[in-house]
Amino acid sequence: MAFLSGCDLAQVYRRAKADGYALIANNFAEPNVLLGILAAYEGAKSDLLLQVSMGAAKFAGGGKPLPGLRALVRYVQALAAEVRIGVFVNLDHVTPDHVGDFIRPALAEGLCASVMIDASALPFEENVAATKRVVELARPYGALVEGELGKIKGVEDEIASDEAFYTDPDEAAEYVERTGVDLLAISVGTQHGVSTGRDLTLRTDLARAIDARLREEGMERPLVLHGASGLSAEQVRALVAAGVCKVNKDTTYQYVYARAAADFFRANRAAILPPEGTTFDPITFEPSGRDWKPDKKLFDPREVGKVVQAAIRAVAAEMIDQVGSGGKSLYA
Ligand code: G3H
Ligand code: ZN
Repeated sequence: MAFLSGCDLAQVYRRAKADGYALIANNFAEPNVLLGILAAYEGAKSDLLLQVSMGAAKFAGGGKPLPGLRALVRYVQALAAEVRIGVFVNLDHVTPDHVGDFIRPALAEGLCASVMIDASALPFEENVAATKRVVELARPYGALVEGELGKIKGVEDEIASDEAFYTDPDEAAEYVERTGVDLLAISVGTQHGVSTGRDLTLRTDLARAIDARLREEGMERPLVLHGASGLSAEQVRALVAAGVCKVNKDTTYQYVYARAAADFFRANRAAILPPEGTTFDPITFEPSGRDWKPDKKLFDPREVGKVVQAAIRAVAAEMIDQVGSGGKSLYA
Protein backbone atom coordinates (compact mmCIF):
# COMPACT_ATOMS: atom_id res chain seq x y z
CA MET A 1 0.00 0.00 0.00
CA ALA A 2 1.38 3.35 -0.95
CA PHE A 3 1.93 6.34 1.24
CA LEU A 4 -1.53 7.85 1.75
CA SER A 5 -3.31 11.19 1.91
CA GLY A 6 -5.36 13.16 4.41
CA CYS A 7 -8.68 11.86 3.04
CA ASP A 8 -7.57 8.27 3.67
CA LEU A 9 -6.33 9.20 7.13
CA ALA A 10 -9.71 10.77 7.91
CA GLN A 11 -11.31 7.38 7.17
CA VAL A 12 -8.89 5.61 9.50
CA TYR A 13 -9.75 8.05 12.30
CA ARG A 14 -13.49 7.61 11.64
CA ARG A 15 -13.12 3.85 12.01
CA ALA A 16 -10.92 4.24 15.10
CA LYS A 17 -13.41 6.58 16.74
CA ALA A 18 -16.34 4.28 15.93
CA ASP A 19 -14.57 1.11 17.07
CA GLY A 20 -12.92 2.65 20.15
CA TYR A 21 -9.25 2.23 19.26
CA ALA A 22 -6.46 4.74 18.61
CA LEU A 23 -3.36 5.17 16.50
CA ILE A 24 0.02 5.72 18.06
CA ALA A 25 1.68 8.71 16.34
CA ASN A 26 5.25 7.50 16.06
CA ASN A 27 8.01 10.16 16.00
CA PHE A 28 11.16 9.27 14.09
CA ALA A 29 14.23 11.05 12.73
CA GLU A 30 16.35 8.29 11.20
CA PRO A 31 16.09 4.84 9.55
CA ASN A 32 16.58 2.42 12.47
CA VAL A 33 13.56 3.68 14.37
CA LEU A 34 11.53 3.83 11.16
CA LEU A 35 12.41 0.26 10.13
CA GLY A 36 11.66 -1.16 13.58
CA ILE A 37 8.31 0.62 13.69
CA LEU A 38 7.35 -0.41 10.17
CA ALA A 39 8.13 -4.07 10.89
CA ALA A 40 5.93 -3.97 14.01
CA TYR A 41 2.99 -2.39 12.17
CA GLU A 42 3.21 -4.72 9.20
CA GLY A 43 3.31 -7.69 11.58
CA ALA A 44 0.31 -6.41 13.55
CA LYS A 45 -1.72 -5.40 10.46
CA SER A 46 -2.21 -1.93 11.90
CA ASP A 47 -2.27 1.25 9.85
CA LEU A 48 0.81 3.32 10.60
CA LEU A 49 1.00 6.99 11.51
CA LEU A 50 4.53 8.38 11.51
CA GLN A 51 5.36 11.89 12.57
CA VAL A 52 8.23 14.24 11.92
CA SER A 53 8.91 17.29 14.06
CA MET A 54 10.82 20.26 12.68
CA GLY A 55 13.76 19.29 14.85
CA ALA A 56 13.77 15.79 13.36
CA ALA A 57 13.54 17.18 9.83
CA LYS A 58 16.37 19.60 10.59
CA PHE A 59 18.52 16.73 11.90
CA ALA A 60 17.81 14.58 8.84
CA GLY A 61 18.60 17.51 6.55
CA GLY A 62 21.96 18.39 8.10
CA GLY A 63 20.45 21.57 9.53
CA LYS A 64 17.91 22.19 6.76
CA PRO A 65 14.36 21.13 7.77
CA LEU A 66 12.64 21.04 4.39
CA PRO A 67 15.29 18.96 2.56
CA GLY A 68 15.39 16.73 5.65
CA LEU A 69 11.62 16.24 5.52
CA ARG A 70 11.80 15.40 1.81
CA ALA A 71 14.52 12.82 2.46
CA LEU A 72 12.63 11.17 5.33
CA VAL A 73 9.34 11.12 3.44
CA ARG A 74 10.90 9.65 0.28
CA TYR A 75 12.40 6.88 2.41
CA VAL A 76 8.95 6.25 3.92
CA GLN A 77 7.26 6.30 0.50
CA ALA A 78 9.64 3.70 -0.93
CA LEU A 79 9.07 1.34 2.00
CA ALA A 80 5.33 1.99 2.20
CA ALA A 81 4.93 0.75 -1.37
CA GLU A 82 6.03 -2.71 -0.16
CA VAL A 83 3.59 -3.25 2.73
CA ARG A 84 -0.14 -3.97 2.90
CA ILE A 85 -1.05 -1.37 5.53
CA GLY A 86 -1.84 2.33 5.24
CA VAL A 87 1.17 4.56 5.93
CA PHE A 88 0.68 8.23 6.83
CA VAL A 89 2.96 11.10 7.81
CA ASN A 90 2.01 13.90 10.19
CA LEU A 91 4.06 17.07 10.72
CA ASP A 92 4.41 17.40 14.48
CA HIS A 93 4.49 20.61 16.57
CA VAL A 94 5.01 23.21 13.85
CA THR A 95 4.85 26.70 15.32
CA PRO A 96 3.13 29.63 13.52
CA ASP A 97 6.48 31.15 12.49
CA HIS A 98 7.15 28.13 10.25
CA VAL A 99 3.93 28.03 8.28
CA GLY A 100 5.54 29.68 5.24
CA ASP A 101 8.84 27.84 5.17
CA PHE A 102 7.73 24.38 6.32
CA ILE A 103 3.97 23.69 6.31
CA ARG A 104 3.18 25.43 3.02
CA PRO A 105 5.87 23.70 0.90
CA ALA A 106 5.23 20.35 2.63
CA LEU A 107 1.55 20.55 1.67
CA ALA A 108 2.32 21.70 -1.87
CA GLU A 109 4.77 18.83 -2.37
CA GLY A 110 2.40 16.21 -0.89
CA LEU A 111 4.81 15.32 1.93
CA CYS A 112 2.18 14.79 4.64
CA ALA A 113 -1.36 13.59 5.28
CA SER A 114 -1.79 15.87 8.26
CA VAL A 115 -0.12 18.70 10.09
CA MET A 116 -0.12 19.90 13.66
CA ILE A 117 -0.05 23.65 14.07
CA ASP A 118 1.11 24.34 17.60
CA ALA A 119 0.03 27.82 18.60
CA SER A 120 -0.79 26.71 22.15
CA ALA A 121 1.77 29.12 23.63
CA LEU A 122 -0.27 32.07 22.28
CA PRO A 123 -3.33 33.63 23.92
CA PHE A 124 -6.66 32.04 22.89
CA GLU A 125 -7.61 34.55 20.18
CA GLU A 126 -4.17 34.39 18.54
CA ASN A 127 -4.17 30.59 18.74
CA VAL A 128 -7.57 30.58 16.97
CA ALA A 129 -6.35 32.94 14.26
CA ALA A 130 -3.07 31.06 13.61
CA THR A 131 -4.81 27.67 13.58
CA LYS A 132 -7.57 28.89 11.26
CA ARG A 133 -4.98 30.14 8.76
CA VAL A 134 -3.43 26.68 8.57
CA VAL A 135 -6.84 24.99 8.22
CA GLU A 136 -7.56 27.26 5.23
CA LEU A 137 -4.12 26.56 3.78
CA ALA A 138 -4.48 22.78 4.13
CA ARG A 139 -8.03 22.37 2.79
CA PRO A 140 -7.22 22.46 -0.96
CA TYR A 141 -4.67 19.67 -0.40
CA GLY A 142 -7.10 17.48 1.56
CA ALA A 143 -4.65 17.41 4.47
CA LEU A 144 -5.96 17.22 8.04
CA VAL A 145 -5.03 19.80 10.65
CA GLU A 146 -4.44 19.23 14.36
CA GLY A 147 -4.60 22.20 16.70
CA GLU A 148 -3.76 22.35 20.40
CA LEU A 149 -5.58 23.97 23.26
CA GLY A 150 -4.11 24.01 26.76
CA LYS A 151 -0.43 23.58 27.55
CA ILE A 152 1.59 20.40 27.94
CA LYS A 153 4.46 20.60 30.40
CA GLY A 154 7.97 19.54 29.36
CA VAL A 155 10.22 19.87 26.34
CA GLU A 156 9.52 18.59 22.83
CA ASP A 157 12.09 19.75 20.28
CA GLU A 158 11.84 23.54 20.20
CA ILE A 159 8.62 23.64 22.25
CA ALA A 160 9.05 24.02 25.99
CA SER A 161 6.57 24.72 28.75
CA ASP A 162 7.29 24.94 32.48
CA GLU A 163 3.65 24.70 33.39
CA ALA A 164 0.67 22.58 32.44
CA PHE A 165 -2.72 24.16 31.69
CA TYR A 166 -5.60 21.76 31.43
CA THR A 167 -7.93 22.18 28.45
CA ASP A 168 -11.32 23.68 29.23
CA PRO A 169 -14.26 21.85 27.54
CA ASP A 170 -16.17 25.05 26.69
CA GLU A 171 -13.09 26.68 25.20
CA ALA A 172 -12.39 23.46 23.30
CA ALA A 173 -15.85 23.59 21.68
CA GLU A 174 -15.37 27.26 20.74
CA TYR A 175 -11.87 26.56 19.39
CA VAL A 176 -13.02 23.66 17.18
CA GLU A 177 -16.03 25.63 15.95
CA ARG A 178 -14.04 28.73 15.06
CA THR A 179 -10.95 27.06 13.58
CA GLY A 180 -12.50 24.02 11.89
CA VAL A 181 -9.60 21.79 13.02
CA ASP A 182 -9.88 18.08 12.22
CA LEU A 183 -8.11 16.87 15.37
CA LEU A 184 -7.86 18.45 18.79
CA ALA A 185 -4.78 18.07 21.01
CA ILE A 186 -5.80 18.39 24.64
CA SER A 187 -3.87 18.86 27.84
CA VAL A 188 -5.06 16.41 30.49
CA GLY A 189 -1.95 16.07 32.66
CA THR A 190 0.60 14.27 30.48
CA GLN A 191 4.09 15.73 30.05
CA HIS A 192 6.60 15.67 27.22
CA GLY A 193 9.80 13.77 28.07
CA VAL A 194 10.73 11.32 30.83
CA SER A 195 7.70 11.45 33.11
CA THR A 196 6.27 8.44 34.91
CA GLY A 197 2.52 7.97 34.60
CA ARG A 198 2.35 7.25 38.35
CA ASP A 199 3.57 10.78 39.15
CA LEU A 200 1.07 12.58 36.90
CA THR A 201 -2.33 13.97 37.77
CA LEU A 202 -4.11 12.51 34.76
CA ARG A 203 -7.57 13.90 34.05
CA THR A 204 -9.26 11.11 32.09
CA ASP A 205 -12.55 12.62 33.25
CA LEU A 206 -11.61 15.85 31.46
CA ALA A 207 -10.87 14.02 28.20
CA ARG A 208 -14.30 12.39 28.51
CA ALA A 209 -15.94 15.77 29.20
CA ILE A 210 -14.26 17.40 26.18
CA ASP A 211 -15.30 14.48 23.98
CA ALA A 212 -18.89 14.70 25.27
CA ARG A 213 -19.02 18.48 24.81
CA LEU A 214 -17.85 18.21 21.19
CA ARG A 215 -20.39 15.44 20.48
CA GLU A 216 -23.21 17.53 21.99
CA GLU A 217 -22.31 20.32 19.56
CA GLY A 218 -22.18 17.90 16.61
CA MET A 219 -18.42 18.51 16.30
CA GLU A 220 -16.95 15.17 17.37
CA ARG A 221 -13.21 15.05 16.71
CA PRO A 222 -10.39 12.57 17.31
CA LEU A 223 -8.68 13.83 20.48
CA VAL A 224 -4.89 13.83 20.58
CA LEU A 225 -2.72 12.95 23.56
CA HIS A 226 0.75 14.49 23.57
CA GLY A 227 3.53 13.45 25.93
CA ALA A 228 2.22 9.89 26.17
CA SER A 229 5.57 8.22 26.90
CA GLY A 230 5.71 6.95 30.48
CA LEU A 231 2.01 6.10 30.83
CA SER A 232 0.95 2.62 31.91
CA ALA A 233 -1.13 0.39 29.60
CA GLU A 234 -4.15 0.98 31.86
CA GLN A 235 -3.76 4.76 31.66
CA VAL A 236 -3.50 4.63 27.87
CA ARG A 237 -6.54 2.34 27.59
CA ALA A 238 -8.62 4.59 29.86
CA LEU A 239 -7.74 7.66 27.77
CA VAL A 240 -8.56 5.86 24.52
CA ALA A 241 -11.93 4.84 26.00
CA ALA A 242 -12.45 8.54 26.87
CA GLY A 243 -12.13 9.64 23.23
CA VAL A 244 -8.39 9.86 22.53
CA CYS A 245 -7.67 8.64 19.01
CA LYS A 246 -4.03 9.67 18.47
CA VAL A 247 -1.40 8.87 21.09
CA ASN A 248 1.96 10.60 20.54
CA LYS A 249 5.11 8.66 21.40
CA ASP A 250 8.62 9.97 20.97
CA THR A 251 10.63 9.68 24.20
CA THR A 252 10.00 5.92 24.51
CA TYR A 253 11.65 5.31 21.13
CA GLN A 254 14.54 7.63 21.98
CA TYR A 255 15.25 5.72 25.18
CA VAL A 256 14.82 2.27 23.60
CA TYR A 257 17.23 3.27 20.83
CA ALA A 258 19.89 4.57 23.24
CA ARG A 259 19.53 1.63 25.62
CA ALA A 260 19.77 -1.03 22.89
CA ALA A 261 22.85 0.68 21.41
CA ALA A 262 24.46 1.19 24.84
CA ASP A 263 23.91 -2.49 25.76
CA PHE A 264 25.31 -3.61 22.41
CA PHE A 265 28.44 -1.48 22.70
CA ARG A 266 29.00 -2.48 26.32
CA ALA A 267 28.71 -6.18 25.44
CA ASN A 268 31.08 -5.79 22.46
CA ARG A 269 33.47 -3.28 23.98
CA ALA A 270 36.61 -5.39 23.40
CA ALA A 271 35.82 -5.79 19.69
CA ILE A 272 35.55 -2.04 19.13
CA LEU A 273 37.75 -0.20 21.66
CA PRO A 274 41.50 -0.88 21.83
CA PRO A 275 42.82 -2.24 25.12
CA GLU A 276 43.93 0.21 27.79
CA GLY A 277 47.21 1.89 26.81
CA THR A 278 46.80 1.11 23.10
CA THR A 279 45.60 3.47 20.39
CA PHE A 280 44.28 2.55 16.96
CA ASP A 281 44.44 4.86 13.93
CA PRO A 282 41.13 4.74 11.98
CA ILE A 283 42.81 5.70 8.68
CA THR A 284 45.98 3.58 8.64
CA PHE A 285 44.59 0.89 10.98
CA GLU A 286 47.93 1.04 12.81
CA PRO A 287 47.83 0.21 16.52
CA SER A 288 50.31 1.76 18.88
CA GLY A 289 51.41 -0.25 21.89
CA ARG A 290 49.99 -3.76 21.72
CA ASP A 291 49.08 -5.44 18.42
CA TRP A 292 45.30 -5.19 18.17
CA LYS A 293 42.56 -5.12 15.53
CA PRO A 294 38.87 -4.33 15.92
CA ASP A 295 36.27 -6.87 14.75
CA LYS A 296 34.50 -5.74 11.59
CA LYS A 297 31.69 -8.23 12.21
CA LEU A 298 30.76 -6.16 15.27
CA PHE A 299 31.67 -2.55 14.50
CA ASP A 300 29.79 -2.45 11.18
CA PRO A 301 26.99 0.04 12.02
CA ARG A 302 24.45 -2.37 10.56
CA GLU A 303 25.11 -4.72 13.50
CA VAL A 304 24.06 -2.23 16.17
CA GLY A 305 21.35 -1.03 13.76
CA LYS A 306 19.78 -4.49 13.62
CA VAL A 307 19.76 -4.68 17.41
CA VAL A 308 18.17 -1.22 17.69
CA GLN A 309 15.54 -2.09 15.08
CA ALA A 310 14.58 -5.30 16.91
CA ALA A 311 14.21 -3.42 20.20
CA ILE A 312 12.10 -0.69 18.57
CA ARG A 313 9.95 -3.32 16.87
CA ALA A 314 9.25 -5.04 20.19
CA VAL A 315 8.24 -1.86 22.03
CA ALA A 316 6.17 -0.62 19.06
CA ALA A 317 4.28 -3.94 19.00
CA GLU A 318 3.50 -3.61 22.70
CA MET A 319 2.17 -0.08 22.23
CA ILE A 320 0.00 -1.18 19.26
CA ASP A 321 -1.52 -3.65 21.66
CA GLN A 322 -2.22 -0.91 24.22
CA VAL A 323 -4.20 1.23 21.76
CA GLY A 324 -5.93 -1.68 20.02
CA SER A 325 -5.03 -0.82 16.40
CA GLY A 326 -3.66 -4.30 15.58
CA GLY A 327 -5.68 -6.19 12.95
CA LYS A 328 -7.66 -3.03 12.13
CA SER A 329 -5.85 -1.83 9.02
CA LEU A 330 -8.26 -0.62 6.37
CA TYR A 331 -5.80 -1.82 3.73
CA ALA A 332 -4.54 -5.25 4.89
O1 G3H B 1 4.50 15.33 19.83
C1 G3H B 1 5.12 14.36 20.30
C2 G3H B 1 4.79 13.83 21.59
O2 G3H B 1 3.86 14.54 22.28
C3 G3H B 1 5.72 12.93 22.23
O3 G3H B 1 5.66 12.89 23.64
O4 G3H B 1 8.06 12.53 24.03
O5 G3H B 1 6.39 12.14 25.83
O6 G3H B 1 6.54 10.63 23.89
P1 G3H B 1 6.73 12.01 24.40
ZN1 ZN C 1 3.84 16.65 21.59
